[in-house]
Amino acid sequence: MIKTIAIMTSGGDSSGMNPAVRGVVRGALYNNLKVYGIYRGYEGLIDGDIKELTSRDVGGIINRGGTVLYSARSKKFRTEEGQKQAYENIKKYKIDALVVVGGDGSLTGLNLFIEKTGIVGMGLPGTIDNDLYGTDYTIGFDTAVNVAMDAIDKIRDTATSHERLFLVEVMGRHAGYIATYCALAGGAEEVLIPETETHIEALCQKLEEGKKHGKKSSIVVVAEGDDAGGAVETSKKIAGKTDWDVRVSLLGHMQRGGSPTAFERINASRLGVGAIEGLIAGEKNVMVGIVNDQIVYTPLKEAISKKKPINEHYLKTSDILSSI
Ligand code: F6P
Repeated sequence: MIKTIAIMTSGGDSSGMNPAVRGVVRGALYNNLKVYGIYRGYEGLIDGDIKELTSRDVGGIINRGGTVLYSARSKKFRTEEGQKQAYENIKKYKIDALVVVGGDGSLTGLNLFIEKTGIVGMGLPGTIDNDLYGTDYTIGFDTAVNVAMDAIDKIRDTATSHERLFLVEVMGRHAGYIATYCALAGGAEEVLIPETETHIEALCQKLEEGKKHGKKSSIVVVAEGDDAGGAVETSKKIAGKTDWDVRVSLLGHMQRGGSPTAFERINASRLGVGAIEGLIAGEKNVMVGIVNDQIVYTPLKEAISKKKPINEHYLKTSDILSSI
């Protein structure tokens, strides 16, 4: 029976991690479980940076970006020695289940640790990239899209004043979710993502046609991991091939910050409580997710290895609305 759990946030932070931590901590306390907070992800598990948490420790954080538990991409945890020390702390604190809020890399680490040690693990999808299988939504994605959309709206103002074309780069090394969603929400003329092949000639032709149709500005949203090579590279590739005066804007890490949206807070809270409900019901070595508005549990192995495809209808809709 699970009596004590420990929670950490790991990898790239995302807005919504705080409401998720609050959900896990309060969900656990409500069910009379003891809760430890592990600071700085796997680094803190190795170093013993661990503290018991009360309900008050997670008060006033639902609206805050970042993570009160801090985060890290731990190199030490990739070593045998690091994993040994981490396991020693699991034993020392009598932790029955390890709850990790993180992306692909962090949940891969959790899965590996579980396989080696036999401990119980529960993952929560925490990444702005929305690229985990087994959930329609990852913690941080909605806020990142809203942050990027706001930036695109502002870029549109200056682009129109100067009749310019802007290539706006958003995050997503391997996934085009942020790019696709904020292109649609921001009314972009084109979106370039890693999941589809980029054709420079076709892109230039579409942008030229827009100019002929009287467009006063153009926005191309580029995922950082696009095969054309990101916004800077793409700008070099289209140079001289369109009449547009071109500028580049890289949104960068601002996409990871900001107060979580209402949608984010609600889903992160549900996932937090869902993680605890799952553990109590005997779920182990799974990732809790939300599919069709229902809490579901997917084996960690599948969540980290299966690909979640981009819904083609988003791309098609964006293309139709920007083509006429
Ligand atoms: O995985 C989340 C993410 O924000 C990616 O979109 C981005 O490519 C990466 O992290 C950046 O990582 P770092 O903060 O380590 O530079």
